Amino acid sequence: MIITGRDQNKLTSAKKLYPSLVTIKSDVADETDAVSLFYDVKALGGIDILYNNAGVGVKPSNLGISGSKHLENAIYETNINYFGVIRLNNLFLDMLKSRPEGAIINTTSLLSYVPSLQEASYSATKTALAFYTRSLREHLRIIKSTLKVFELLPPLVATELTAGRDEKKMSTEVLFKG
Ligand SMILES: NC(=O)c1ccc[n+]([C@@H]2O[C@H](COP(=O)([O-])OP(=O)(O)OC[C@H]3O[C@@H](n4cnc5c(N)ncnc54)[C@H](OP(=O)(O)O)[C@@H]3O)[C@@H](O)[C@H]2O)c1
Repeated sequence: MIITGRDQNKLTSAKKLYPSLVTIKSDVADETDAVSLFYDVKALGGIDILYNNAGVGVKPSNLGISGSKHLENAIYETNINYFGVIRLNNLFLDMLKSRPEGAIINTTSLLSYVPSLQEASYSATKTALAFYTRSLREHLRIIKSTLKVFELLPPLVATELTAGRDEKKMSTEVLFKG
């Protein structure tokens, strides 16, 4: 298994816990990083499953009150949550299509169905991703590709992303046990 992320310290900690992991520092919002990741993964023999998990949400703000951060925050979220997925899928598509059991997993959110007032632009990025995911699946079916496309819709889980929220959260352990 190969994992990626922007923070080398997090990758090093994960590697300490699970020594068989391969870690590659890479930012999905950065085209050069993404291309370099593709060639590194190819050199390692390629992958069967691309799991697009990277996602960010910025602190909520009232969009009805002019603010210098509205556009900046929305661009930051969209570059990672939406364009980041399209960027990686596009790079890895031919590799994944060549695999007998290739798959793409895109991580959307319940907030892609129920827009969050508090996290309005985060919700919007996840809705865009959900629509793209369904279209990609259908387009692959039309061209008779065996590549599968899954949409993972996590509930509210206690992670760094949700650290500032007071609502009841599921632990990561419970989520993975099912
Ligand atoms: N937690 C929830 O309640 C919840 C609910 C629904 C959906 N989700 C979705 O689940 C996914 C995982 O979120 P999480 O809750 O586990 O949040 P998290 O603990 O903050 O983890 C986010 C992960 O994404 C990576 N990441 C962020 N930006 C990146 C970038 N530009 N390039 C590469 N990696 C990047 C982070 O690594 P670095 O910081 O090292 O880059 C980190 O490993 C996200 O897509 C999120 O939207 C979460």
